[in-house]
Amino acid sequence: MRSVLLLILAGALVAQSPKYGVGRAPTADEVRQWSISVAPDGTGLPQGSGTAAAGRRIFADRCARCHGAEGRGGDSGALVGGRGTLNSSKPLRTVGSYWPFATSVWDYVNRAMPFDRPGTLKPGEVYALTAYLLFLNGIVPENAPMDSRSLPRVQMPNRNGFVRDPRPDVPVSGAGRRTTPRPNRSR
Ligand code: HEC
Repeated sequence: MRSVLLLILAGALVAQSPKYGVGRAPTADEVRQWSISVAPDGTGLPQGSGTAAAGRRIFADRCARCHGAEGRGGDSGALVGGRGTLNSSKPLRTVGSYWPFATSVWDYVNRAMPFDRPGTLKPGEVYALTAYLLFLNGIVPENAPMDSRSLPRVQMPNRNGFVRDPRPDVPVSGAGRRTTPRPNRSR
């Protein structure tokens, strides 16, 4: 919400700039399109739903060429496996071994993937892909529908592998918590 307000304010400032006379205030529709953040508690997740079974097909089609079959590692890195390796000399950080929130998987895939065509997935496809990645990592059953209610309830294996960031100049943000990897577990 705060970022939406900032965007609106920034847009208004630019629009009113007497010096340069460039730019315009974004329309409410444009702000809505940019405002795609999903918080760890699921705030911002849209309607829609998908299961791993549907995600499997989309992944093969749109993701496997970079992340390997079943996400086990292509040129762009594995998304599956690595559980129990974080405190070894060869940590494998994946969605399954490292990420603390399932909601962040949704957010990341939605905003950044496929790497060469971000923003082209529909909400239901992102739910299905998230469900598939969670299923491949042994976190949810294959037929469990992921949606704005079920996804925030998923407990990620490394959920407690992070500690609060003690630096006084790091603010605690609204919905999230300031966290940093536990040094002895992630290295
Ligand atoms: C053209 C290659 C390409 C395609 C296609 C692609 N990705 Fe990626 N993916 C990447 C790259 C490169 C990164 C690392 C980006 C970075 O670190 O900034 C990445 C990172 C990720 C990550 C974060 C991994 C981590 O643990 O940090 C996830 C999750 C992910 N991709 C999911 C997907 C999904 C789901 C699809 C299919 C919709 C997809 N990717 C398609 C190249 C690709």
